[in-house]
Amino acid sequence: MPESSYQFPDGFLWGTATAAHQVEGGNSNNNWAAWENEAGRIHNGEKSGLACDWRGGRWREDLGNAARDGQNAHRFSIEWSRVQLSPDGWDDSALDFYRELVKGMKALGLQPVATLHHFTDPLWIYEMGGWENDKTPVYFEKFVRKVVKVFKDEVNLWVTLNEPNGLVVNSYVDGCFPPGKKDFRSAFKALTNLIRGHTLAYHTIHELQPNAMAGYALYYRGFFPKREWFPLDRWAARGLQGNVNDLFANAIHNGRVKLILFNTMVKEAIGTQDFVGLQYYSSDEVAFNLLKPGELFSSRQCPHGAPVSPTGFIADVPRGMAQGLSWARQFGLPIYVTENGVEDAEDQMRPAYLLRHLREVWKAANAGWQVKGYFHWSQVDNFEWERGWSQRFGLWALDPATQLRTRRKSADLYAEICKRNGFHPETVQRLAPEVFNELFGA
Ligand code: GAL
Repeated sequence: MPESSYQFPDGFLWGTATAAHQVEGGNSNNNWAAWENEAGRIHNGEKSGLACDWRGGRWREDLGNAARDGQNAHRFSIEWSRVQLSPDGWDDSALDFYRELVKGMKALGLQPVATLHHFTDPLWIYEMGGWENDKTPVYFEKFVRKVVKVFKDEVNLWVTLNEPNGLVVNSYVDGCFPPGKKDFRSAFKALTNLIRGHTLAYHTIHELQPNAMAGYALYYRGFFPKREWFPLDRWAARGLQGNVNDLFANAIHNGRVKLILFNTMVKEAIGTQDFVGLQYYSSDEVAFNLLKPGELFSSRQCPHGAPVSPTGFIADVPRGMAQGLSWARQFGLPIYVTENGVEDAEDQMRPAYLLRHLREVWKAANAGWQVKGYFHWSQVDNFEWERGWSQRFGLWALDPATQLRTRRKSADLYAEICKRNGFHPETVQRLAPEVFNELFGA
């Protein structure tokens, strides 16, 4: 048995991530509730319903498991639609749930990391045009002010927006998220307002809590040219890199908001991040395709030879994680991997996926890059947006009908990693022998 192990730096944050709409249950006042009620929008017409019944108190069970399994942090989100009922109408009692949740996390030894916007908008925001409306960033700032005032002594790490670049693509280019548009002009408008909303939120957080760390969580996808030698494949991959991964990041870096031929400046956005939140799941192989202007002249496919998840949603491509980390490093800020994981109900590929991706995180952290934490998606199966309940990302399985949780083998593996702040040959041999040679072989 080799002696070496993959050891992470002291103080590394180990957690899982969740989002309000996906776990709380009973969210009826946001754009996703409306979307779920429209025919044909969600896989099999499924609904979030009770979700993981966190509102009913079952967060105690899930976070209790997380803490018992050695995690020391948890990333969750606060549901905007519950707190702000109209531009000036508030339900203060809605914050009680989050008070209890945050208190509970702290009692369990989990550092709370709070997300202020994770895909859902209040219905009244949706009805006035969502992020295409110039007033939305202003209303969002009011919500942020309200929340940060309450939690500034409890929460130090704030994620303003979850995957704003992914949100723009899903909502206004692919149309699989509400409002289901396929229109680059709307996408650009929403993108610009999301950048404004993030900027206002960032400044408000610092006004109320000068020592807070604030940033946003970026959806990073690996795009690799199918034929490395072919300039047009490289060009198509670069186009996707620029219009997906760099979409939000550029604005924060230099104020320039750019989506294909549209562009503008939001100067106030420059420098509004204290850390980079990196979310990486999968990568594509990209070939130039003249017939697909709407997809930036590209055909995308699963990288050759990569294991693929049961519904074909995720390919196991750890070099995309390596590329994402190296991309994130350009900003010279601490990096948190705020999401990474795979849908895998039978837990066949998750152990290997987890270890392969963590190896890339380990390499970066041990090369002296400022990688500070890793949050697995997710603690327990939950409602997966337009894919409904068809995909299972949990370390624990959930039967939404009975609310019964069942531990997967990956929970054992992740627990040992968290507890030992790294992974050892003996653990891998026992819990993921399929990847032992790859990780520890000569
Ligand atoms: C992310 C998203 C999460 C979760 C995950 C797995 O893009 O932020 O909410 O759904 O994908 O599909």
